[in-house]
Amino acid sequence: MTADQGTTEAPRRGVSTIPRGEFHRRRRQLMGMMEPNAIAIVPAARLAIRSRDTEYAFRQDSDFHYLTAFPEPDAVAVLLPGREHGEYVLFCHEKDPVQELWLGERIGAEAACERFAADDAFPLSDIDDILPGLIEGRGRVYYSMGRSPDFDARIMAWVNSIRAREASGATPPGEFTDLDHLLHEQRLFKSAAELRQLRHAAAVSVAAHRRAMRQCRPGIYEYQLEAEMLHEFSRHGARCAAYPSIVAGGDNACTMHYTANEQRLKSGDLVLIDAGCEYRCYASDITRTFPVSGRFSRRQRKLYDIVLAAQEAAFERLAPGQDWDAAHRASVEVITHGLLELGLLKGSFRKLIDDGAYRDFYMHRVGHWLGLDVHDVGDYRPGGEWRELEAGMVLTVEPGLYIAPDNESVPAPWRGIGIRIEDDVLITDRGYELLTKGLPRSADEIEEWMA
Ligand code: GLY
Ligand code: MN
Ligand code: MN
Repeated sequence: MTADQGTTEAPRRGVSTIPRGEFHRRRRQLMGMMEPNAIAIVPAARLAIRSRDTEYAFRQDSDFHYLTAFPEPDAVAVLLPGREHGEYVLFCHEKDPVQELWLGERIGAEAACERFAADDAFPLSDIDDILPGLIEGRGRVYYSMGRSPDFDARIMAWVNSIRAREASGATPPGEFTDLDHLLHEQRLFKSAAELRQLRHAAAVSVAAHRRAMRQCRPGIYEYQLEAEMLHEFSRHGARCAAYPSIVAGGDNACTMHYTANEQRLKSGDLVLIDAGCEYRCYASDITRTFPVSGRFSRRQRKLYDIVLAAQEAAFERLAPGQDWDAAHRASVEVITHGLLELGLLKGSFRKLIDDGAYRDFYMHRVGHWLGLDVHDVGDYRPGGEWRELEAGMVLTVEPGLYIAPDNESVPAPWRGIGIRIEDDVLITDRGYELLTKGLPRSADEIEEWMA
């Protein structure tokens, strides 16, 4: 138990960072999948203006981070399989004592080689002179097109500068391939070191949800519960939420992406919190829905138990070899069955499923990949077929049931209730591992924790 009101248990501290050698292995693996005689170009994120001369906190691009661990904006990583003088070239900001006096250390090209294992590193100011020479003679360019119009234009300018010299014997690349397909397939399978970060992120978010449940009482504002979450994230070194936190009391829970978080919580209402921290670039994503006053009403509990059963049914479909959609179908069946039993849907079970009648009440999928990005990368339907789960994949399981305040197909007392239960899991050889352990989930557990 921690000192502050004894509400939370501190997650284990001091999770080691991912060893540098792993980033080297990732680059080698990617290069091993590229066509021979190709080049890959991966830009870092840029700073974004928040207002006038103030920027948003910098967050590295996930693909760039995955391959380099290099933490600065604007850099460009270049992979050149088979290049005699080194396969990994990095362009980055130069060291600049005046800038560094104000903004802190810049790594610079020399230290980029020593500390980040680049084979060659050059100042960004030289990229227009050097990069066309690296592209020239390579048959294929791998690059994630369409994310940044500015960077797309620079790629074309570098290629066109080679085309302009074709008459003097220069050979421009003939093929352009989206890098995402190869890189995102690789990112889908998490390493042991990545799992340590994901487990830690999950543990911090569990502590934050436990804290928010204990601090909740009628009359406080949604943003005050958000503050409890953020406090717990930050004090464990997870300085950002992985996505804008949702703290939605009463009707607000029926708005899927409600992030205003500015209303007062009322006794008798439920509150839905969908919030998770980001720890060293790795996301967690947890939702709990609980009564503002600490006790579920009869109706609230009936709906809650349906969502809980839907989540249990989905968990049972998580194992290698199960297709990705099986968990979703299982959750749809439980929710449809539950709504039928309560008389909130009418008709035959099979026909309701076939007609998608649940979609008025459950309008999202049961989950998504989780990793460096909260909605992490990786194909769900490669080749048009739902993908089979495999060990090493990490995903969320988050069925929900939302009865909009204006849903006139159900009697008024049921309206304005939104419930989601969301946990994070790792697919293992034998089934799955719950990453978000230790957080009250059933209605009884929640009432007991809040009491
Ligand atoms: N928090 C975003 C999601 O649950 O997908
Ligand atoms: Mn989610
Ligand atoms: Mn979520």
